[in-house]
Amino acid sequence: MENPVLHEDLGRIHETLTDVRQKLADQTVLITGAGGFLGYYFVNYLTRYAETLGIRRVIALDTFIVGSPDWLTALAQTHGDRLEVRTFDISRDDLGQLATAETVNYVIHAASIASPVFYRKYPLETVDGNIWGLRRILDHYRDNPALKGLLFFSSSEIYGDPDPAAIPTPEEYRGNVSCHGPRACYDESKRFGETLCWIYGTQFGMPITVARPFNNYGPGMRTDDRRLPADLARCVLAGEDIVLLSDGSPTRTFCYITDAIAGYLRCLLHGRYDYFNIGMDRPEVSVRRVAELYVDAARQLFGYRGKIEFRTSDDPAYLTDNPNRRCPDIAKARRLLGYAPAVEVAEGISRYLRFLAAEARA
Ligand SMILES: NC(=O)c1ccc[n+]([C@@H]2O[C@H](COP(=O)([O-])OP(=O)(O)OC[C@H]3O[C@@H](n4cnc5c(N)ncnc54)[C@H](O)[C@@H]3O)[C@@H](O)[C@H]2O)c1
Repeated sequence: MENPVLHEDLGRIHETLTDVRQKLADQTVLITGAGGFLGYYFVNYLTRYAETLGIRRVIALDTFIVGSPDWLTALAQTHGDRLEVRTFDISRDDLGQLATAETVNYVIHAASIASPVFYRKYPLETVDGNIWGLRRILDHYRDNPALKGLLFFSSSEIYGDPDPAAIPTPEEYRGNVSCHGPRACYDESKRFGETLCWIYGTQFGMPITVARPFNNYGPGMRTDDRRLPADLARCVLAGEDIVLLSDGSPTRTFCYITDAIAGYLRCLLHGRYDYFNIGMDRPEVSVRRVAELYVDAARQLFGYRGKIEFRTSDDPAYLTDNPNRRCPDIAKARRLLGYAPAVEVAEGISRYLRFLAAEARA
């Protein structure tokens, strides 16, 4: 049975896209990184609503290094007429090998290593997805007139640790980023990926839109992902105390997955070169406060009784170049894309925990 939170969320995404979703009729969409967090909602939405939207085909690519997720196998079984799932390394494999790749109208390039714990462990693979994988896609589709939109996933990390005067951070802020150190493989490869998009968008007129996500969370983020929302969820579901490996003072805004996916699809369907911050612009909350919100939600939902502890990581580079503040200015996306995020952080956390609890029961 479909998870009730997922079911409702897909309905919300569908409702918020009434003015643009007709562009997907009779189109084929290719998604790289389809087995990941954002891939979960992209593939679920585009496949489960394929008939309503009139989508011709969804091609889902991923290396599946840790195996193809069960949800994707199940979707491929029930929607095999429209969903094609392939094990594919976008930085090495040739899109020409896929017969259906030529018919693609929209490309979502979400393949990357996104969790800081893992990109620090696999820095070259991180660079490969963001640069060589992107370059392969751009070269493959450069002269294909069927292409109507290509979405590149950059990151809010391209801004590094912004000057306080640049909070909320507008798209034109140039960043305060180190090209050395543990985070550089991610931040700098996203920056260079954006440069590739600019070159192909302006020189070859490709319909590329760059999205800069700001801290998404929610269903689809695996609890072993090691990003903050996942760690907090894992602790409260296991009934364990929350351990923060900082003093909890850095601040972020958190964007629930339905708002994020609606923003990304608006970027994809924009169909011309541009770049947008996609995230929530309020409230900016400290890491400590977000941990408290998890505690409150888990207490209400399942009588959680744990507490929050503060410790220092054994890894001396754990907090190196960790941004102090992260808050987007989303006026441009509101104005040009009609983007309007709405889910408050407490509600989003409760939805994420309810989703995980229902999965555990299933
Ligand atoms: N989720 C966020 O808050 C956030 C924030 C900033 C940027 N982003 C960006 O958005 C995109 C999607 O993020 P996510 O949270 O879904 O990440 P994720 O790590 O959950 O999923 C990424 C997927 O890409 C796959 N992958 C990695 N390298 C690949 C390759 N060479 N070929 C094919 N597949 C490959 C992985 O197996 C994984 O399934 C990434 O580019 C990420 O950097 C996300």
